[in-house]
Amino acid sequence: MSRAAGDAPSAGPTSITACPDGPLIARGPIELVDEHGDPIERRRRTIALCRCGASAIRPFCDGSHRTVGFRTERPARTPAVIVPEPIVDEEPDAASA
Ligand code: FES
Repeated sequence: MSRAAGDAPSAGPTSITACPDGPLIARGPIELVDEHGDPIERRRRTIALCRCGASAIRPFCDGSHRTVGFRTERPARTPAVIVPEPIVDEEPDAASA
């Protein structure tokens, strides 16, 4: 596929960051295509992709996530820790029997 005019060069790492209660921020050389595989023009190296569905300029974010109250699930602050059950000796104590 051809590169859209004004696109950044295809060098450097690519990353996608999920913003809490907001868009996905894509940085670096990625190619955007629509549902038919046709390229979507991208004018910046860093772009915000809508994930709330309310943007009027999808696939890009237009800030509408704030007005619609889009909320994402927060990751756990601490990892889950599984504490093993204590081992209980079921045999009666010889002194109490
Ligand atoms: S995430 Fe910003 S408008 Fe949808």
